Parts: sequence; structure tokens; C-alpha cells
Amino acid sequence: MNTVLVGAQWGDEGKGKVIDFLTEEADIVVRFQGGSNAGHTVVVGEKKYVLHLVPSGVLHEGKHCVIGNGVVMDPFDLMKELEQVESWGFELKGRFHISERAQMVMQWHRALDRAEESMRPEGKKIGTTGRGIGPAYAAKVGRYGMRVGDILKPDFLDLIRSQVEEANIKLKALGAHELDADEMVKLYTPMVPALMPYVTDTIQFLHENLDAKKSILFEGAQATMLDIDFGTYPFVTSSNPTAGGACTGSGVSPRSIDRVIGVLKLYTTRVGEGPFPTELTDADGETLRSRGGEFGATTGRPRRCGWFDAVVARYAQRVNGVDYWAMTKLDVLDTFPVVKICTGYRRKDGFVYQTFPADLEVLSHCEPVYEELPGWQCDTSKTTDYSQLPENAKAYVNRILDLIGGKLGVLSVGPARETTLRINI
Ligand code: GDP
Ligand code: IMO
Ligand code: MG
Repeated sequence: MNTVLVGAQWGDEGKGKVIDFLTEEADIVVRFQGGSNAGHTVVVGEKKYVLHLVPSGVLHEGKHCVIGNGVVMDPFDLMKELEQVESWGFELKGRFHISERAQMVMQWHRALDRAEESMRPEGKKIGTTGRGIGPAYAAKVGRYGMRVGDILKPDFLDLIRSQVEEANIKLKALGAHELDADEMVKLYTPMVPALMPYVTDTIQFLHENLDAKKSILFEGAQATMLDIDFGTYPFVTSSNPTAGGACTGSGVSPRSIDRVIGVLKLYTTRVGEGPFPTELTDADGETLRSRGGEFGATTGRPRRCGWFDAVVARYAQRVNGVDYWAMTKLDVLDTFPVVKICTGYRRKDGFVYQTFPADLEVLSHCEPVYEELPGWQCDTSKTTDYSQLPENAKAYVNRILDLIGGKLGVLSVGPARETTLRINI
């Protein structure tokens, strides 16, 4: 069984937690896009683990973890994270693999990310994570990027020099500090022996395992509404976090994918700039933020919070072909007397959009249409079986399913591993 798992909103839906849960029955977990802009949290007992580049399956000994060709990998972030994972007591030798085709995020990509963001006027800022993601993907599609396999080449350090020179032209034009090529060479020299043991042909590795009928779990980072093609462009990331990205970012064919799981938070959050139709700036938004602990796992920024948006989720269902939903954070809604679901966006002339418009300008002239349901006002965080849930909570979940399609596969009622209910997957 090969499963693709994707975020269905604007990220931070709880993908890390669900991946950790599903890794039990997988052999290999693969990251296929994004980079250290991701922050995936897994809570086991009292201990909280946050992963950025290393797949969230790493906390299960013996499972293989792969960084696929679609990822942009910052060697410094990766080394720091590998050390951390080992300090947590997990052995990586022989089970962690990096594609030689993956692109590298270099110091100049991070510098360019910061410089470009600071040049953008108010209203045009993206609110990037500053991890160099946009410039690294720009280099990839511009065909001047650096691939992981380049570290194996004798002219790697010369390549660094020429890349720094080119980046300095742009940095200078942006009024930012230029980088010193010698310093960069010194910085990256120790990376070569450190990375070397993990670099491999991951396409070959994955296909050998597919032939041996092993089970692969594809771990999406970011989410549908941050997708470069399907998201709220230009307030998006620079990759394809949607289901198709799992194939292009790993070298596995769509024919090998058996199911797609979409992760949905039972309300909505967004971190960074860009449209967010159901955003709440009132006390209810504050309640969601404080009860949900809605602060970025990568940047610590407070997340913007709002009601569940069924227009977004239905769109995500279509774009990804979601078979099953993993719904998270039901417990965060426990105290609300009323819960709301957005079913459309109403224009001033009365027209209601039921699909997500491509033109963001449209959204600025719309207001969300809400359906109100009674809350359940009791603690769901100790639930161990779906049948124990209050009727109003079930009604809320079922109404969402009616509106968006797909089946409920997993329901999460707390941050810890044990607070995950398997429904029908
Ligand atoms: P990801 O990026 O999709 O992996 O999500 P993050 O880890 O960035 O953010 C999700 C946050 O919600 C983390 O702090 C999780 O520990 C937490 N979380 C996940 N599922 C639940 C849940 O069902 N209830 C509660 N209260 N917290 C959850
Ligand atoms: P996970 O995997 C939430 C957002 C940033 C910014 C935009 C572009 O944890 O769900 P980038 O640094 O990628 O160029 O920033 O995308 N963003 C995320 N928001 N969760 C993430 O990852 C995100 N990764 C990027 O805040 O708005
Ligand atoms: Mg996150």
C-alpha cells in the first residue's frame, strides 16, 4: 500500500503527527518537496519532536527515510537536524537517504530570500520563512541550481565560487550584503564528508522497494493552498505540495500510488501573508490560537486563525483526489457554544462563489457565507473511540464530509500519538 499524504489548507494541519501514526504500517517515508520551511511536530508521551527536513517517520526505528529529488535541502539545517535526531536516541545509519538529484539551498539563497522579501512593499510581502526556499527553486527551474550530487564532483568548490559571484550581482542590486567566496568555500568544505554517506540514487532505492512490495508513505510539506500552481498565488511557497508532487518529487509513477490522504485541521490557520477568507480577528480567533497552540513550529510566528472553510477543503479534495481525510484538532473546538463552517464567498451583488477563485482580487470583495452548528462544550481529548464522541461533534464532522466529499480515515483529538483515532483505513 503506497500512500500520499498532503496538507489540505495553508499548512500546519498536523501532517507530522499523522505521518508518525501511519509509519507504523509503512516501510519507507519520503519527503518529496519543500525544505526546512516545514515544521512537523510529533508528540510522544511528554516529549515533543519538531522535524523540518527529516521525514516524520524517523521516530520509528528501522523505517527508512528518504529526501526525494523534489526537495530543496539546506546542508546546514540538515546536519543540525541529523545531530538532533541522534541526540534523541534514534540511529540513522543505513536508513536515511538523500537523492543526488535534490537541489541544495545555499547561504546565498537564504540571503536572497531575505533581501527580496525586504524589498517587497507592504501588501506584497509574502511572509516567507526566510529559509531560502524561493531562490533555491528559482535556481532549479532557471537551470543554475546546485544538486546534492554536485558535492561528489571534483570541481564542487569551484562551483561554489562561481555561484557566489553570480548571487553577489543580485544581492548588490537589492542593496544587500555581498558574500565572500573564500568564506563560503571554507564553510561548505566540511559538508562534503558529512553528507556523502547519505547520498544515493533514491529513485533506484524506491523502485527496488516497490518491486519487493514494500509500503511507501509520501510526506507532503506545506499544503494545497500554498501550492505554486493551485494556491493563493503569489502568496504561496515555490513547490507543488499537492498529490502530483509526490510523483515528480520522488520518481515514483502515479500508477504506484494506492491512496491519497488529506490532512485537515477542523478550523483554519495561516502563517505569513495572503488572503484568508474565514480569518477571525476577534476573541474567537484568540481562543483558537491559545487553545490550539497556534504558533509556527519553524518561525514561532503567531498563526492567523479562523473558522473551517469548506470551499478550500472541497477544492483540496478535487486537486489531490483525496480518498481519506485525517481530521485534526477537534479538541480545540471543545469550548465553543457555536461552530461555523464557511460554505461559499458572497460578492456584494449577492453572487456566491462555491469554488476557490483564481483571482485574489475577487476575494477582497467577498464575505464568507457561514452555516452555524451547535457546539458540544465538553472535553473530547480523552476520546479513544469514535462512538464516544458527543453527537454534536459527530454532526460537525459529518456535515463537513457532506460538503467536501471523501471519507473520514483518521480523527485526532490531541497532540500526542495516543490521541489518534483510526476510523476506516
Ligand atoms: P504540520 O506542519 O502539518 O506537521 O503541523 P505542525 O506540527 O506545524 O502543527 C500542528 C500542531 O498541532 C502541533 O503543535 C501538533 O502537536 C498539534 N496537534 C496535532 N494534532 C492535534 C490535535 O488533534 N489536537 C491538538 N490539540 N493539537 C494537535
Ligand atoms: P508545514 O509543512 C505553514 C508559508 C510561509 C509563507 C509562504 C512562503 O509545516 O505545514 P516559503 O518560506 O516557503 O517561501 O514561504 O508559505 N509556509 C508555511 N506555512 N506551514 C508550512 O509548512 C509552511 N511552509 C511555508 O509562512 O507564507
Ligand atoms: Mg508545520
